[in-house]
Amino acid sequence: MAVEVLATDRDGTAHKLEAERGRPLMEVLREANLGVEGTCGGACACGTCHVYVGAAWAERLLAKSEDEQMMLDAIAELVEVRPASRLSCQIPVSEELSGIEVEIGPVP
Ligand code: FES
Repeated sequence: MAVEVLATDRDGTAHKLEAERGRPLMEVLREANLGVEGTCGGACACGTCHVYVGAAWAERLLAKSEDEQMMLDAIAELVEVRPASRLSCQIPVSEELSGIEVEIGPVP
């Protein structure tokens, strides 16, 4: 069963997406052509999958790994990283995330 994802692009337009469970959120956003490149293919090494997660959802996600935090710290030199910033390649789509709201973040 697909999981609903509400994604706001960088122009402020909201998109309702259907995501397959178990896939990285980055791939879902990339396929929807919302400006997410995912250049490193999900290896936590490029920062081009940066998103701001909706406040209600941030604490429901798995905690950031050390690698994810290091990449976020690295891109923070160039773009605005907020407490709600995550790398969408590190967010597996799951049933519990149905209805998750994300905003496509700025990328380096
Ligand atoms: S796709 Fe490169 S860090 Fe997420």
